[in-house]
Amino acid sequence: MLLWRTFPLSESGELHMTPNLSILDACSAANIDIMLEGMANLIAAAIDRNIPNQGTHSQRVAALAASIAKKLGLPQEEIKRIYMAGLFHDFGKLFLPSRVLIKTEPLSDDDWSFIKLHPQLGSTFLERIPAFQNIAMDVLHHHERIDGLGYPRQLSGEDIPLGSRVIAVAGAYDTMTTINPYRTKVEKDIACEILIKDSGTHFDGGVVQAFLATLGYKKIGA
Ligand SMILES: [Fe+2]
Repeated sequence: MLLWRTFPLSESGELHMTPNLSILDACSAANIDIMLEGMANLIAAAIDRNIPNQGTHSQRVAALAASIAKKLGLPQEEIKRIYMAGLFHDFGKLFLPSRVLIKTEPLSDDDWSFIKLHPQLGSTFLERIPAFQNIAMDVLHHHERIDGLGYPRQLSGEDIPLGSRVIAVAGAYDTMTTINPYRTKVEKDIACEILIKDSGTHFDGGVVQAFLATLGYKKIGA
C-alpha cells in the first residue's frame, strides 16, 4: 500500500520513508490493490508531466507491456506486476538535471552519461518501498540488450528479467511512434520492421513476436 510518512532528507542526504502501518492494517487486500494501482498511475502521470516531450509515455508503455505479457500467457499477477513496472520504468529520470531533460539538440556524451543513470536511480528508490520492491529489477534492466550491449549492467539473453525485456520492446515502439526530440517519428509498420530487424540483438525475438501479435500481425520475420 502506498501510504507513507515521508521525512524529506537526513543529514546524510538520504530520503527516508516508512509505511503508515495503522492505515495499512485498516485496508482489505483488494482495496490495497486498487489504491496501489491508482497511486501508481498518479505517480506515472507526475513522471510524464515532469519530463519534457514525454506525453503519456509511461502509461502507454505500461499498457503495451501488459498486453505483451498477456499474449505471452503469463499469469495475471505477473501481468499486473509488469504493468506496474511499465508505469515506473522512467521514474529515475526525475532525479536527472533538468538541463539534460529539456535539451532538444543532440545529447553530448556527458548528457548520455546522466541519462544512463536513470534505471539505477529509479530502481534504488523503488527498492526502498516495500510495495514496489518486486518491480525494482525490471526497472533496473529495462535498457539492457539481448546482445549484452545495453546498460547499466550489460546483461544478455535470459539473464535480463522478462519484465525488462517486455518493457524494452514496449518502450522502443512507443518512442519510435510518437513525437520525440531525439529521433524522427516513424509509422507503426516501420517501427514493427525495426523491432523485427533488431530481434536477437537489441530485443528478445519472442517478446517482439508477442507484441506484433497484439497488433494483429500474423507471424512476421524469422
Ligand atoms: Fe528508460
